[in-house]
Amino acid sequence: MTLELKPLHPVFAAEASGLDLTRPITRADACAINAAMNRYAVLVWRGQPLTAEQQIRFATTFGPLDIGLKRVFKRPERLEDERLIDISNVGMDGAVQKPDSPKNLSNFANQLWHSDSSFMNPRAAYSMLHALVLPSWGGETQFADLRAAYDALDARTRAIVEPLSAEHYALHTRILLGDDAYTDEQKKLMPPAVWPIVDTHPGSGRKVLFVGVHARQIIGMSTAESRLLMSDLIEHATERERVYTHRWEVGDLVIWDNRATLHRGRRFDLGERRELRRTTINDTPEAMLAVA
Ligand code: OGA
Ligand code: MN
Repeated sequence: MTLELKPLHPVFAAEASGLDLTRPITRADACAINAAMNRYAVLVWRGQPLTAEQQIRFATTFGPLDIGLKRVFKRPERLEDERLIDISNVGMDGAVQKPDSPKNLSNFANQLWHSDSSFMNPRAAYSMLHALVLPSWGGETQFADLRAAYDALDARTRAIVEPLSAEHYALHTRILLGDDAYTDEQKKLMPPAVWPIVDTHPGSGRKVLFVGVHARQIIGMSTAESRLLMSDLIEHATERERVYTHRWEVGDLVIWDNRATLHRGRRFDLGERRELRRTTINDTPEAMLAVA
């Protein structure tokens, strides 16, 4: 079987088929997936009923796994393997959580435009989200292409942002959402990471506008100017023509490159179950070379 690709959007994102991801893939297939990721940045696979083990095996083909904020929160979770990230509104008891639960706070934070783990160094390369149970309404995931966002900048803004870097902080979105009761110990566990706003995407050699809600401060600017510029850049990056909306079906696996895209979840009825499972790869030098 060989990888087949069907573009889903004029700018980026493709539907991928022709491989069975529940089985180990060959090095040649992994290389083909990497090449497709470098072109499309988001790949949608339909009908891939992966077990937890199969999803972990597939993900680790591409590099070491990243568990993001789990290091800080250390909450008991119902998923069978701690390398999996539970993107759901369901608790340890198997019940849908209350709207004001910590679980839903994470879901709300995921509804703001972000790049996974941009507050860490190394940051995240690929994330892979697999749909298990879906609500009857809403809950789509949207993606925006940051290479197209850079290309579409006007010359003046391009010159302004070129030398700038931003500090990305793990708890910034939580604090924005009114959740600020963190211990000093928790805060220390997550020192901010600094990334250039104009960066080069390693896989395609194209420039990216690396913005998102984890960016709490542009270095060397007043907080007010920094916040306004950042929100303006996020608005630009997520203009409709640069956004692909994924409408989930059970058994989908969507892979995206966090170094080239932003994403956000969309609203859904919090009383209904929504259960997805994520694996994320750290952007370490060996990660993508492992299959090059
Ligand atoms: C994620 C995420 C959005 C969603 O899993 O990293 O941001 O739609 N998810 O659940
Ligand atoms: Mn995310």
